[in-house]
Amino acid sequence: MSEKRRILTGDRPTGRMHLGHYVGSLRNRVRLQHEYECYFIIADLHMLTTKNSKEEIEQIADNARGMVLDYLGVGIDPTVSTIFLQSAIHETYELALLLGNLVTVPRLARLPSIKEMARAALMDEDTIPFGLLGYPVLQAADILLPKAHLVPVGKDNQAHVEITRELARRFNNQYGEVFPIPDDLVEGDTLPGTDGQAKMSKSLGNVIFLTDDAATVRKRVFSMYTDPNRIRADIPGNVEGNPVFTYLDHFDPDKAGLEEIKARYRAGRIGDVEVKERLANALNAFLDPIRDRVAYYAAQSGLVDEILYDGTLRYREIAGQTLREVKKAMGITGTFNRIARKAEERKKKLARQ
Ligand code: TRP
Repeated sequence: MSEKRRILTGDRPTGRMHLGHYVGSLRNRVRLQHEYECYFIIADLHMLTTKNSKEEIEQIADNARGMVLDYLGVGIDPTVSTIFLQSAIHETYELALLLGNLVTVPRLARLPSIKEMARAALMDEDTIPFGLLGYPVLQAADILLPKAHLVPVGKDNQAHVEITRELARRFNNQYGEVFPIPDDLVEGDTLPGTDGQAKMSKSLGNVIFLTDDAATVRKRVFSMYTDPNRIRADIPGNVEGNPVFTYLDHFDPDKAGLEEIKARYRAGRIGDVEVKERLANALNAFLDPIRDRVAYYAAQSGLVDEILYDGTLRYREIAGQTLREVKKAMGITGTFNRIARKAEERKKKLARQ
């Protein structure tokens, strides 16, 4: 293994990715991939905690491929980083089961994130499945298998990294040092939605996807929420808390030009159309190389599959090695090995007779 410290992070395959994902996590990952040895998980098993009908599982599989394409589009480099599919790693299921014995039910049941996910899936407290309660334990298995040092996550997942740390410490105390204690790195900003709501989110329908075409982006920008008090161009406007300017701050590279526009907006000397025109252009310029890269990968039949496949095989090696260490430390390995040896001896003896 290389000298670099390791990162594990990733996403549930809920659908195609949007600007909010870019600002919140993707751009951070693109930057970190050269500093750290990075493993990016497509967490399809976590989806099953709330969606597990046949139809939903089929949808999850489609989403997984789209998500890999978006990762590649923003510049995650598959020759540098490993992208893998969680459900193909049997070691994850196994480690999650073993770790589940080292945390109490109330510790998990108290987590606001579990309650939140249950609410979103229209479950009430006493219909929460065992699997959803175990969501953070499964996540701990993801993080501990590659012995990650750093876990970039959103605020909503911070408590899960805390659980992971507790599990790692408990394991190490009880069975011997196997796991490094991972740190969390709370990820970037949340981007407001096009409707001015605090967060861009597919379920709110206020998103701009990374692969939206130029005309769609334009249309979304021109219907964006701005300062509602500004019914004429000569009324002084609010820049702070105005999503159009928040987006410009993130995506307009011409900072000096932007300051001038802000000053004119505050003074009531610019129309919304001109500001939105500028934003549409900035976003399309930003998205162009992403669209190109997505088109490049999508055009080559089987390439995305090959990248996910190779990454998964690479990850399997690492996962296998850690799980063998875990079982050895716990003293589980020996039990069946002794039984197998005796049984095989007997079979050989009988065959010789
Ligand atoms: N729980 C993450 C989400 O909200 C996805 C995820 C699964 C994850 N396993 C992980 C994130 C491990 C970081 C590390 O989508």
